Amino acid sequence: MATNSAAAVDLEDVQTVDLMSELLRRMKCASKPEKRLIFIGPPGSGKGTQSPVIKDEFCLCHLSTGDMLRAAVAAKTPLGVKAKEAMEKGDLVSDDLVVGIMDEAMNRPKCQKGFILDGFPRTVTQAEKLDEMLKRRGSEIDKVLNFAIDDSILEERITGRWIHPSSGRSYHTKFAPPKVPGVDDVTGEPLIQRKDDNADVLRSRLDAFHNQTEPVIQYYGQKGKLVNIPAEKPPQEVTAEVKKAVSA
Ligand code: AP5
Repeated sequence: MATNSAAAVDLEDVQTVDLMSELLRRMKCASKPEKRLIFIGPPGSGKGTQSPVIKDEFCLCHLSTGDMLRAAVAAKTPLGVKAKEAMEKGDLVSDDLVVGIMDEAMNRPKCQKGFILDGFPRTVTQAEKLDEMLKRRGSEIDKVLNFAIDDSILEERITGRWIHPSSGRSYHTKFAPPKVPGVDDVTGEPLIQRKDDNADVLRSRLDAFHNQTEPVIQYYGQKGKLVNIPAEKPPQEVTAEVKKAVSA
């Protein structure tokens, strides 16, 4: 009871226009089929750029282990303290840490129609644990979209990226510039560069991708769930390819 009345008080504080748009969103989403997707690919391949667009279109939640870990590092939580060193070096954080946060995150009400996993699973152990988690919930992964791209393109994408930390919105000085340099289009707040977005750390992140994450692509290929996305194309063309793959 206490929870309900607290929720009622909170709702009274919400602007009518926001309540109405949430109601319309829920009505639109009611008829959408459930989907459980994985976006996999090297750093800078466009997973984080495409996820917000696809999440809105298909009424899914976007769960990025990178975003969750960066939030934990910024808040200096016990998880963040453990993850910080590995992330700054471009190494992977331990499987147990990321599996734990993902298991919890999938219970969020906004994941009711399914989810996009961005940056998870990144090792075969994580993929096996994800399969177990979903089996316990009576579900399974529907599709794994592999953002295929040559390494040589990634340095320019990564070193030119600027992000708005609280929303996760991502910009690029050349490919997706903000309206005003250094400033978020929506809030007007300053943009920042990620600590691991430099050429040196990128090399370690790419090593981790080729050694530890490429076997995950093979793992889902053997299960017949893999769809290759040509991620070198311009962003709008990649969006069209992703929508086609998700709708098929
Ligand atoms: P994470 O945050 O997941 O980083 P990542 O996988 O390296 O991916 P990125 O966010 O760099 O790339 P993206 O594909 O999202 O690119 P984006 O769309 O922004 O992980 C960070 C760290 O956390 C890891 O190194 C690890 O330490 C730890 N971690 C996370 N998950 C873990 C796990 N499961 N297990 C263990 N450790 C884990 O695009 C990049 C730029 O290019 C942008 O500026 C964008 O505007 C531009 N761009 C995008 N698409 C295009 C296009 N089509 N054409 C031109 N420009 C484009």
